[in-house]
Amino acid sequence: MRKKVAVVFGTRPEAIKMAPVILELNKHKDFFEPVVIVTAQHREMLDQVLKVFYITPDYDLNIMKKNQSLSDITTDVLKGIEGIFKKEQPDMVLVHGDTTTSFSAALAAYYQRIPVGHVEAGLRTYDHDNPFPEEGNRQLIDNLADLYFVPTKATEQNLLLENKKQSRIVVTGNTVIDAVHYIKNTRVEHRVLDLMKHKSDQKWIVLTMHRRENYGTPMKNVFKAVVDITEKNSNVEILMPVHLSPKVQALANEVLGNNDRIHLVEPLEVDVFHKVIDQAYLVLTDSGGLQEEAPTLNKPVLVLRNKTERPEGLEAGTLKLIGTETDSVYVHVSNLLTDKKEYIRMAEALNPYGDGTASAMIVKALKDFM
Ligand code: UD1
Ligand code: UDP
Repeated sequence: MRKKVAVVFGTRPEAIKMAPVILELNKHKDFFEPVVIVTAQHREMLDQVLKVFYITPDYDLNIMKKNQSLSDITTDVLKGIEGIFKKEQPDMVLVHGDTTTSFSAALAAYYQRIPVGHVEAGLRTYDHDNPFPEEGNRQLIDNLADLYFVPTKATEQNLLLENKKQSRIVVTGNTVIDAVHYIKNTRVEHRVLDLMKHKSDQKWIVLTMHRRENYGTPMKNVFKAVVDITEKNSNVEILMPVHLSPKVQALANEVLGNNDRIHLVEPLEVDVFHKVIDQAYLVLTDSGGLQEEAPTLNKPVLVLRNKTERPEGLEAGTLKLIGTETDSVYVHVSNLLTDKKEYIRMAEALNPYGDGTASAMIVKALKDFM
């Protein structure tokens, strides 16, 4: 009998990071029977990723609501997935990272005594407010999981200090690097890429921001700094694919709208987005995934947070944590615009998140475990 593995995800970053695992499972259909379940915690931004990787889910809970609360997501996933697990009776459920979809799916699996494999396990800030609610989610998931796929040695260490068994932990690198490699050689065309090419003498800064703890004042402070930067540097253009969260949309339009050198665009397909990073000068973001993938494309990342669960990047020198205060953002961006030596040091630092073989390692470890 083949082993049935249910892969559950719901948001854009989970999809990008689970897609390589699904593609790898599909290569081993003699052993595995993959079942793809999406919650659609994100709708449009999830579908964009499914299209790029040619993945058709077996089940789609379609739960997204405008301005959904965390309780909405938790209960809709928990209830929605119960019947699917009962019907399919998977031998293993794979979840990813720290979203509420992942926590809720892990809980649903645990209630039915189905083993849980956690991809991108072990990340920690040990601060429940940063990032919120992701830090809580990832700790809860790791308490429910049976098998841990961690990206680095440092994340393995976090789990060992929490008394998780070493035999249940596999260090794999991050699957987002696999995704970068998978997409790298595809040909894409997009008006944003044309615009960047048209103005290729300019320094393009890619900005993304969406974290719940940054809603309101922190986001406004960062956006003010961005306006100041464009005012003081006529050779700088800002490109912001605006997250579909209504709170982000409203503030971005209010503070950054109507500016010739600030380009607010819709969320981009991931293959287009990687090419955009490739053509950019630097990345300004509060995203998790971007901290791991932009360094692979040799771009410095200035992180708009007070804490990161990715200390390896800070140590390696690919990331700098700059918070969300207007002055700090302004100063750090200005430095990287003028200090060539520092720029090159960050751009050329070695990415600690792996070499693009994480999914193969995960599937091999799954086979051994099962
Ligand atoms: C979620 C994750 C976060 C992850 C982020 C990636 C949780 C609690 N948070 O946060 O960890 O970093 O996704 O982007 O799981 N929306 C759309 N269409 C979409 C996607 C979102 O309209 O395709 C709007 C909806 O109004 C939705 C809102 O954005 O209610 C917020 O989405 P939600 O998933 O609740 O939170 P994120 O901030 O995206
Ligand atoms: N991304 C994308 N299109 C965009 C912006 C980001 O495909 O317009 C990708 C990006 O390449 C990265 C992922 O989305 O892999 C990060 O997702 P997000 O920042 O939404 O979530 P986080 O990583 O913070 O959980």
